[in-house]
Amino acid sequence: MNLVNRPQTEDPAIVRERAGAALLAARDRTSLLTTCVDEHDLTAQHSPLMSPLVWDLAHIGNQEEQWLLRTVGGREAMRPEIDSVYDAFEHPRAERPSLPLLSPAEARAYAAEVRGRALDVLEGTRLEGSALVTAGFVFGMIAQHEQQHDETMLITHQLRRGPAALTAPPPPAAGEVTACEVLVPGGPFTMGTSTEPWALDNERPAHRRLVPAFHIDTTPVSNGAYLRFVEDGGYQDPRWWQPAGWALVREHGLTAPLFWRREGGGWLRRSFGVTEPVRPEEPVVHVSWYEADAYARWAGRRLPSEAEWEKAARHDPATGVSRRYPWGDQDPGPDHANLGQRHLRPAPVGAYERGQSPLGVRQLIGDVWEWTASDFLPYPGFRAFPYREYSEVFFGDGHKVLRGGSFAVDAVACRGTFRNWDLPVRRQIFAGFRTARDAAAA
Ligand code: AVJ
Ligand code: FE
Repeated sequence: MNLVNRPQTEDPAIVRERAGAALLAARDRTSLLTTCVDEHDLTAQHSPLMSPLVWDLAHIGNQEEQWLLRTVGGREAMRPEIDSVYDAFEHPRAERPSLPLLSPAEARAYAAEVRGRALDVLEGTRLEGSALVTAGFVFGMIAQHEQQHDETMLITHQLRRGPAALTAPPPPAAGEVTACEVLVPGGPFTMGTSTEPWALDNERPAHRRLVPAFHIDTTPVSNGAYLRFVEDGGYQDPRWWQPAGWALVREHGLTAPLFWRREGGGWLRRSFGVTEPVRPEEPVVHVSWYEADAYARWAGRRLPSEAEWEKAARHDPATGVSRRYPWGDQDPGPDHANLGQRHLRPAPVGAYERGQSPLGVRQLIGDVWEWTASDFLPYPGFRAFPYREYSEVFFGDGHKVLRGGSFAVDAVACRGTFRNWDLPVRRQIFAGFRTARDAAAA
């Protein structure tokens, strides 16, 4: 059976070129996100949930220095005194503005100097002999890390008050969707990966999972559908909510997704500095796991488990093989998925026909992160690599898994196997969801 979908290239010139391009693309995005606002906006804390943008900028450089210059390149620390300031575990986000942070100019110069040296290391390192460098893994890991922080910084931009600093063209229009749900047949499928060269530790290893038959929505839940839950009094009825979710609703007086505001007979929402009517055709975004879970219960459905989500996204019933992406094994292109901050909003439900799965499930990759029912747990055979603080310390019942990526994440940090996680109360992330139901309960 062919489980290796991607032609493995061992050619160091190609690996170097791919790694260099991924690092460059990440830095282009970082630069845009940190030059489109002024000095004050870079150092201010726009929400206690987020770091000042200038912290992210220097943290990106510091992680790159630690892994690419010190660990791989064997170089001395450039500024050992700043390591602790940019250690995410030493300082929670709320306290980061009070740290002795590098100024925007210093942070930019530091990140640029690290990058120049990192490209020398990439050029001069034999990409073999250890799992860290084989297939350019650690360079891919650092490009992904920067892109993950670019999504984090875009969240900060969304929380920031004031006029728009970023603009982007609209995403493609919706296509025709014939069915609102599909049946995914029961049986085993291959979950996770052992072959994707830049997959992170929590996506590994590939293993067989038995997933009974279930139905899943062909698109994410739209604002229009979610609005029916809102207008039906969903936020006033404890029947739909888990106790902790109901407590959250009461404590914060929640009535709708974050950034929504009722005005007259309708709803407005704020999106990157622009207030606009809520668009019924777009996937709902900025809901917590509790809201997603409550909506699903109200609709007589449930959230898919993480294994169900991945089976819907990767399993090809015709061959029994798990694909890299819903559409096949090719890297994502602009016709497949809404990724990489190309558009600063999710595309309407039913868009990206070319990105659909063999069973016709759309928008699994890109648009909005999708909450799943599952806790963030290791796969059988998991080994922390290369550091416990990436995944392992977050395993347990505190965090829920999100899948598929949003419009804000780059393709380098988004795969059919990619796993994200967050607390079930979180609403500022670009998260929506789709629903599922047991096949037996038809
Ligand atoms: C995988 C998105 C949950 O942002 O906390 C960034 C990624 N890890 N720096 C996060 C990450 C270290 C992580 N998430
Ligand atoms: Fe980080």
